[in-house]
This record gives sequence, C-alpha cells and structure tokens, in this order.
Amino acid sequence: MGKEHLIIFDTTLRDGEQSPGASMTRDEKFRIARQLEKMKVDVIEAGFPAASNGDFEAVRAVAEVIKDSTVAALARAFDKDVEPALEAIKPARSGRIHTFIATSAIHMEKKLRMTPDEVLADARNAVHFARNGIDNVEFSCEDAGRSDIDFLCRIIEAVFKEGASVINIPDTVGYNVPEQFADRIHKLRERIPNSDKVTWSVHCHNDLGLAVANSLAAVMAGARQVECTINGLGERAGNASLEEIVMAVRTRQDIFPCETRIDATQIVSASRLVSGITGFPVQPNKAIVGANAFAHEAGIHQDGVLKHRETYEIMRAEDVGWNANKMVLGKHSGRTAFKARLQELGIEVESEQVLNAAFTRFKELADKKHEIFDEDLHALMSDDVVTPEHEYYRLISSGFRSETGETPYAQVILAVGTGDEQHAEARGSGPVDAVFKAIESIGCSGTDLLLYSVNAITTGTDAQGEVTVRLAKAGRVVNGQGADTDIIVASAKAYLNALNKLHAGPGRVNPQGGT
Ligand code: KIV
Ligand code: ZN
Repeated sequence: MGKEHLIIFDTTLRDGEQSPGASMTRDEKFRIARQLEKMKVDVIEAGFPAASNGDFEAVRAVAEVIKDSTVAALARAFDKDVEPALEAIKPARSGRIHTFIATSAIHMEKKLRMTPDEVLADARNAVHFARNGIDNVEFSCEDAGRSDIDFLCRIIEAVFKEGASVINIPDTVGYNVPEQFADRIHKLRERIPNSDKVTWSVHCHNDLGLAVANSLAAVMAGARQVECTINGLGERAGNASLEEIVMAVRTRQDIFPCETRIDATQIVSASRLVSGITGFPVQPNKAIVGANAFAHEAGIHQDGVLKHRETYEIMRAEDVGWNANKMVLGKHSGRTAFKARLQELGIEVESEQVLNAAFTRFKELADKKHEIFDEDLHALMSDDVVTPEHEYYRLISSGFRSETGETPYAQVILAVGTGDEQHAEARGSGPVDAVFKAIESIGCSGTDLLLYSVNAITTGTDAQGEVTVRLAKAGRVVNGQGADTDIIVASAKAYLNALNKLHAGPGRVNPQGGT
C-alpha cells in the first residue's frame, strides 16, 4: 500500500510575518509565494486580509498568480474578518479560509473576555459563514495545547458539523512536549465521531525549541497536515521549520507512514530568499539550511566522509539545493545569460527597461567582484533597488574618512520626498555611527537602533556585505537591508530602507492580539 500524503502548509507569509520587523511588501510576498509554489508546498497561507489594505492586496496578488498550491487567508472568527478573507482569495484556483478562535481558559477569560459557550457560538458562526463562500475551510483552536480536552471536543464537533474539513491544533505558546502533544492528537482522533473524515493539522511554536519534535510526534499520532515556515520564522521563537519537517520525514521513511510532495532541491533557495527579504539571518549551525549544515571541519569527520559519505552524512547537500547555487555569472556574461538566470531564480522582470537597468547594475557589480552568485542577483533585484521611486529617502552619494587617532567622519547626500536633495555630515565613534548620524540629521526620525548586523553575502574579500538594521519607534519595529561591496554604503542603504518602511505607513493589526 502506498504511503499517505502529508500536507505541507507554509505560513511564512502570515505567522512568519508576525515576527517583529519581518513585515513584507506585496512584491516581496509575491516572490516568496512563487518560490513556495516552485517547491510544491501544498498550502500557502498568504496573510491576514483584515489587518490592513496592504495585507488584503498582498493576499489577492498571491491568489491571482499561484496555480499549483492552495492559497489560504487567515480570519478571526467573525464575519468582518471572514468577508475580506473570502474576497481576497476569490481569484485563487484553489482557495481556503482559515478561521480561528482561542479555546484555552486563560485566553477565553483574560484575552477574549468570553464564556466558552460564546466562543463556541462564534466558532460555529464563522465556519458557517465561511462555508457559504467556499468549500475549503480550516478551523484552528488557538492555544489548543493548553485547552481543556473536553471543550476542544465540543468545539471541534460543532465546527465539523458546520463543514470545516481541516481541524488545526496549535501549540500557540510552545508549551507542549512531544509525548503529551501526540497523546492529545490521539485522544481527539479517538473521541471525535467520524474523525477520519477530517484532516488533522498541527501548528507548533518553538518557545522550548520543541516545535519540530512536537509536530513530528503529532504526525506519528495521525496528523496529516503540518503548519510550518521557512527557516522557522514566526512569532517569538518562531514556528516549526519547514525544511526540518520535510527532511526528517524524507530521511526517516523507515518510520514515517507518510510522505510530502516537496521538491527539496528548492529548500536552500527558499531559505535565502526569506532571509534576504526579512533580514533575519540564518544561524550557521541551523539544520539543513545553515552554512555549516554540511561542512565537515573535524579532520576525523572529513576522513570518514571521503572514505564513505554515509559515515557522517545522513542527507546529501545537493538534495536540499546546496550545490545548485555555485558561481553563475561573471564580467563577461551577456544579457541573455543574465536574463536566463533571473528566470531560473523565479525573479520576474516587468519590462525591457527594468531588465536593461538591472543589467547595467550587474555590469557595475561585475567590475567590482569577479564572480556573481545567485545571492548577489537577489540583492541586485530587490524591490528597493528596482523601484527606488517608491522610496521617500534615497541615497545619492556618501563619503567617509576614518584614520587612526582621528574621529571618523561621514557625509551623505539624500534625495528626500519628491527629489529635494539634502546634504549632511557628522562625526561618530566609527564610520557606520557617523553615517547613521548624518542620515539622522536629515531624517530626524528619533528611532532606536535595536540591531545592526553585517554578513558577507558570498565568500571572498570582494563579497558584497549585506547589512540589516532594526529600528523601533513608538512600538513599531522595522528591519532594513542594504547590500554593497562597500559595507559603509550597505549600512547607509539599510538604514534608509528601514526609515522608508517606517515612513510608508502605520502598522498592522496582529490577528492574535485580542479584539
Ligand atoms: O499560533 C497560533 O495559534 C496561530 C493560529 C492563528 C493558527 O498562529
Ligand atoms: Zn502561530
């Protein structure tokens, strides 16, 4: 008998985006969604349309283009959330409404200030309302990991009767441990009449570092959908990481009763894309997608791997896409090769004009560094580079001086608003500090700098530096990125990118923040 199918539900664009500073533009979501589709993710949760117009538009844009994956939209359990969610996914070839309400005593009493009966009534109404608009409805019991099992059974039976076909059991606060969580899934499957007629799903957070372990234990107990994110992005410590779930199930086919349809060779590209767009770096020792995940440093290991690979390797680097991204282009590469590689990477180029401008930037970069890698192309084609006219602040030029015994100095010229050029200079404890102070003297944003990090995008001393800057102002947190072979210029770009995000408008509603 063939193995059962394990549905991979990716929520990078929704739960992942709830990480402070990880919010994405419509185009960024669009690019990630295309990569997820290419990877053959079954369901892409594209966002929470009731949060803002921007979120609505982003979900709609994803629903319009994605053909091979189901596109899901999140909605709290009331009509005013379900309605825009239904509208946003209307263009999808296959769409799903994912509605939820909290079911634990602490959430119902302290957050929702509702009785269990009121919660049950809202859940039932929301599923009923959603089913009038679409067949595919998923219901989640938020904080199910800490909810009373008898109440879970009551509410699940009710929403099942209303037509929910996927029941999701989230460990919202990452409190469970694998045996206990698996036991919960077993019990629910045993107690709910006709439980084999629904798809049981799990959604685990990583507060105790157990999100993947809990999800896999649930799969052993009968769950057939796992909600997860690329690089484990998500609220607080994040969600279960997609790449770890997929590779665990694939590598241990001897014990798992199911398999996914994921094209694992797309994993590394997806990881880099998400990391580049959100500015959340991947730790080097992260399983599957960390830079060291397949590097054998210890001599004894290298010796073993050379003699017989399986001595120390349980997976092959190329199976998850590590070798697909070696050197791709160089100084002598032509426009056709450039265009072809962008297409292979799933980067859409809107017009010949955009392509020509990108090719000019590519040639400038190729003059500075010999080998151009896929990561360089992603940085070269990021939205902020391609559509600088959407930026309120734009770097025209910068200069700095740093000498032993001297206080570092920087000067910048920025285009502000509709093009008014402003010049500023400043001194600081280092060149980065000086350039940020010069920008601040124009922007006067009054933000707090929460994080500054710089990473080499590729290897070699001529690599581009990718800088991430995290700024906070009045409870809003944004990340900015910038890339350049000169890290001071990359820093200035990153700082401006963050300021532009703050300038772009108000924050969004967090679906789990209460009503
Ligand atoms: O963590 C959670 O409970 C969620 C739900 C909205 C599914 O993200
Ligand atoms: Zn979540």
